[in-house]
Amino acid sequence: MQELNELGALEAARPRSRNCNRRNLHNVRLQIPGAREMPAALLIRRTGLALLLAMSGALAFAQAQKAPVYEPQSGQEGKDVVWVPTPQILVDKMLDMAKVTPADFVMDLGSGDGRTVITAAKRGARAMGVEYNPDMVELSKRNAEKEGVAGKASFVKADLFETDFSRASVITMFLLPDINIKLRPKILDLKPGTRIVSNSFNMGDWVADERVVLTPDQGCSTSWCTSLLWIVPGKVAGNYKLPQGELTLKQEFQVLFGTLRTEGKTFALEGKVRGEDITFKAGGKEYHGRMNGKSLELR
Ligand SMILES: C[S@@+](CC[C@H](N)C(=O)[O-])C[C@H]1O[C@@H](n2cnc3c(N)ncnc32)[C@H](O)[C@@H]1O
Repeated sequence: MQELNELGALEAARPRSRNCNRRNLHNVRLQIPGAREMPAALLIRRTGLALLLAMSGALAFAQAQKAPVYEPQSGQEGKDVVWVPTPQILVDKMLDMAKVTPADFVMDLGSGDGRTVITAAKRGARAMGVEYNPDMVELSKRNAEKEGVAGKASFVKADLFETDFSRASVITMFLLPDINIKLRPKILDLKPGTRIVSNSFNMGDWVADERVVLTPDQGCSTSWCTSLLWIVPGKVAGNYKLPQGELTLKQEFQVLFGTLRTEGKTFALEGKVRGEDITFKAGGKEYHGRMNGKSLELR
């Protein structure tokens, strides 16, 4: 700053020599009261730099003062869905139903202000939000920072339809039924056992494995109080020759039907596949099995 004050003095002390051109500035030495003698070029450079720094600092300060804090409005436009936040109590329920642990990698498709990702990160999971609106992405990053989970919670500005979510062990979403249906083939190709939780909206004829509705007594009093869980089923349809008999499995999503031929009789079967685990009833008996690659082990 002293150098700034010296700017006026510099003007006053401008050498009167006619030879004071660019080249010989290096040779001109100035004597400013209170300042040690220094070459004019150095003094000009230093004062210029100080002035520039002071101006840019003042500008940044003014901008910081003026920049409005981004405040999203519930119902605001989004690329394919508007932003409406999931009530925190439902976020908690969704993550409970998905049984999120520190071993999980959670992805929220259309992550809004980041609340689901941040909550999953607080449970120790690595979590990533995919959000199209760049302001929401920046807001989420600030929120994660404030909550002390920036190391576990990350956010990317991307279109969920162009995002690879095959690394996720848990997917959360609050989209729309037609978007869920569009995503369904990709979801069904995920690793068996991947958990999908949706706020309120279903997946057409792929019926949820679990559905929980929170009530006002439980602290949820908006229209968005339903959590739906699906477990990605393994692809188990086929014919198997097993010690228990000849098994023909047919499959519609997680629902199994078909026949078991054992001891010279054929029984219709009904069952379910949950990830790699199979259960079915046939001929009054209950069977449990697990897919191991392409082979099925039945108990
Ligand atoms: C209903 S909000 C849900 C926000 C958050 N998941 C939650 O539960 O609080 C849907 C979000 O999806 C975002 N979105 C809409 N279309 C998208 C797209 N194609 N790709 C990524 N995000 C999208 C919106 O900007 C909005 O933030």
